[in-house]
Amino acid sequence: MKKRRSLAAGLLAALTALAAAGAGAQTLPPAEAQRGMEMMQKQMSLMTPELVEKAKALSPEIRQFLAKVAARHSRHSETMTLTQVMQEILADYQTMASAIAMDSGEVAADAARRIADHRLPRGGMLPYLPLEKVNTQSLSVLPAMEQAVEGGARQLAAAAEKGDMVAAAQHLGTITAGCVACHNHFRGQPGTSARLRP
Ligand code: HEC
Repeated sequence: MKKRRSLAAGLLAALTALAAAGAGAQTLPPAEAQRGMEMMQKQMSLMTPELVEKAKALSPEIRQFLAKVAARHSRHSETMTLTQVMQEILADYQTMASAIAMDSGEVAADAARRIADHRLPRGGMLPYLPLEKVNTQSLSVLPAMEQAVEGGARQLAAAAEKGDMVAAAQHLGTITAGCVACHNHFRGQPGTSARLRP
């Protein structure tokens, strides 16, 4: 377990460095920034007062980042939960991985672009995180995760479309590191039972 934790910390550091390298691409044109802020308002109107208070206390950088994510994604679900969105992402991830193995560049590129523009769940991501993780320090890892998964997916799409499956396979590794690091940080073991002895 200890080994796993130190590996996770190393992964996080590597992904954070990666995100910092791509930081120049983070600023949004004013119209898009405005749209993102409006979408955040809408998400907050769906949250309980307890969560709204936590969301309002986040640093301006994190709030801007969340607004950017809202503005950049074209599909906003009124009903779906984060688990349902994640399962859709997993289906696209599997399509993408098998298409790379099969040398089907177009299929891999389409699936990668669906991941980069994945659906957002009802109320955004915050309602589905443990409440104690909704603070500036915990959420400060999000840009690194986004860069690994969505940045990696866009690069994978470009490589696969050119038929460069070796590069595509390398980007698949970056994306997977993003899934793993985020789950380590925000999620416990899925599907545990209170009716088992520890
Ligand atoms: C920004 C953080 C983040 C990233 C990046 C992320 N996940 Fe998740 N994922 C979560 C959280 C949080 C949950 C738990 C949701 C819940 O229980 O409501 C989750 C749950 C899941 C689940 C549902 C079943 C389970 O294990 O709870 C699947 C499947 C999944 N993720 C797949 C993926 C895949 C594949 C990737 C990478 C392509 C990925 N995720 C990237 C945060 C993330």
